[in-house]
Amino acid sequence: MCGIVGYIGNKEAMPILLGGLAKLEYRGYDSAGVSVFEDGIRTVKSQGRLTNLVEKIETEGSSASHIGIGHTRWATHGEPSDRNSHPHNGQSGKISLVHNGIIENYLEIKKMLLDNGYIFQSETDTEVVAQLFDFYYAGNPLETLQKVIGEIRGAYALGVLCSDHPDTLLAVRKDSPLLVGLSEDGNYIASDAPAILEHTRDYYLLNDNEIAYLTKDGVVLYDLVGNTIAKEIYHVDWDIAAAEKGGYDYFMMKEMMEQPEALRKSILPRLENGEVKLDDFAMTKEEIANLNRIHIVACGSAWHAGIVGKYVIEEMCRIPVEVDIASEFRYRNPILNKNDLCIILSQSGETADTLAALREAKKQGVKVLSIVNVVGSSIARESDYVLYTWAGPEIAVATTKGYSTQLSVLYLVAMYFAKERGTVSNEMYALCEKELEEMPEKAAKLLQLDASLAELAKEYASCEDVFLIGRGIDYAAAMESSLKLKEISYIHSEAYAAGELKHGTISLVEEGTLVIAIATQDTLFEKLVSNAKEVKARGARVIGIAPEGQTLMEEVADQVIYLPKAHNLFASSYVVLPMQLFAYYIAVERGCDVDKPRNLAKSVTVE
Ligand code: G6P
Repeated sequence: MCGIVGYIGNKEAMPILLGGLAKLEYRGYDSAGVSVFEDGIRTVKSQGRLTNLVEKIETEGSSASHIGIGHTRWATHGEPSDRNSHPHNGQSGKISLVHNGIIENYLEIKKMLLDNGYIFQSETDTEVVAQLFDFYYAGNPLETLQKVIGEIRGAYALGVLCSDHPDTLLAVRKDSPLLVGLSEDGNYIASDAPAILEHTRDYYLLNDNEIAYLTKDGVVLYDLVGNTIAKEIYHVDWDIAAAEKGGYDYFMMKEMMEQPEALRKSILPRLENGEVKLDDFAMTKEEIANLNRIHIVACGSAWHAGIVGKYVIEEMCRIPVEVDIASEFRYRNPILNKNDLCIILSQSGETADTLAALREAKKQGVKVLSIVNVVGSSIARESDYVLYTWAGPEIAVATTKGYSTQLSVLYLVAMYFAKERGTVSNEMYALCEKELEEMPEKAAKLLQLDASLAELAKEYASCEDVFLIGRGIDYAAAMESSLKLKEISYIHSEAYAAGELKHGTISLVEEGTLVIAIATQDTLFEKLVSNAKEVKARGARVIGIAPEGQTLMEEVADQVIYLPKAHNLFASSYVVLPMQLFAYYIAVERGCDVDKPRNLAKSVTVE
């Protein structure tokens, strides 16, 4: 995820900015840049590692500056490049700005600015904010910022320099974190504490739409209409490593907790006036109508997301969907037709087998839509169409937010195709839209089960075998939940289609075996309860997972995890969240290295 650092004070700004950016490297980034005030605003940016930026600055040389902003970018709008890196400057040369987040209405604003003669240097939504600032600027930067935030919609943390006011640094946030650091030697802004922790441990934590007006001697906070705000100073005593994890013990926990925000970013900008809008998806109506078959190809958790996608797309769009493991697809000589579509799922966009499968599909003349998290990754670059998941960088090896956002984009694609093909009623379409809109909030509520799942994990941490059973779409959720347990806690766990249990697996159930019975589907609920009874009768301990209100599960299960109520097609997507937490706490109980499980890699770039 992008990082911001800014400074104004008695010390030299450049080393503070570069040091701060180095502290944000762990978050993942593809380019970096700084703006400082020398004679006027001087901006230096560079694609790639921070060392590229440092070299560029050293080559160009720099004079002392006591104010500046810096940024590490993780590409969203526009590929990783020098041009698209932050800071972005206004046309007059008076404004420089860094931004984290996504501006939803940037195209609308860009059009207005283009009509007013503005010329853009980049493809970013951020440059639109810089130019809008420039457009409104009439001498007072605070008033201008108030005007700008009245116009932009979306998530943002902004840091702004204005060359007419070299003694002032402005910042504001909405739905994207920003801290204001306070010290005797000057004041700071940062998207994350580690960037400035070596300089100060005293902060203002900005709330949405609070503006910070920083000078070297102090910070004044304003609300949207210019009233000053009094705020308590927050003192942190984290060490640097803890701060990088936002105070969590592991990145995996941080990333699990980021899921509501990641879902918000991946879903909400794509729902407009009751319709799914997929901006960069240029498949024609005719191509969609003529779709013969969809092949979803992926590895690991992405493959599990693909299996959910199969259920959803087949149900809503009535197109047959095959789901393949990429390493199998590439060698099985798949039968592909020119009216087929290949959907590639990959968090990293670099998984070797998945990339090879993409090339195989393209070689056979099939169009490829990829659903990818990392902008500018190999898979994104080689696909005909790309939909990004906007989950931000994932550092823990076991994917959490990457998987959840893949699901959300698959739902969006299913709705989009269904509408174009006329295979969904208006009522069902509206219901799906509501379900997707509510998904981030429901996920946030579910993650509050955190403490109770930690307790449950204590009870089961010594298990050696776990079976997860589910039917239909719940079987896919069982597979992903089982993988989470395997990956991070090293417990032997297997997922079974519940109806298959009697064909062999039930012979492994004995006194004390843990069976997790997943039953989110109304029509299959009683069947699952019967399966749970069968294992219970053989001595199994049973954890049931059911939607709120399905209390019948309590009759058979030792414990029940309740999920938010949702339509059958969506209910199952909530299963994995408590299972991620459960696996996490079991791994912690067992003393495993949660973020770096043995033998596993985050991105498998070899066959
Ligand atoms: C590795 C990761 C998994 C991930 C899989 C596919 O095995 O540990 O979490 O699901 O690769 O990765 P991708 O980046 O293609 O989604």
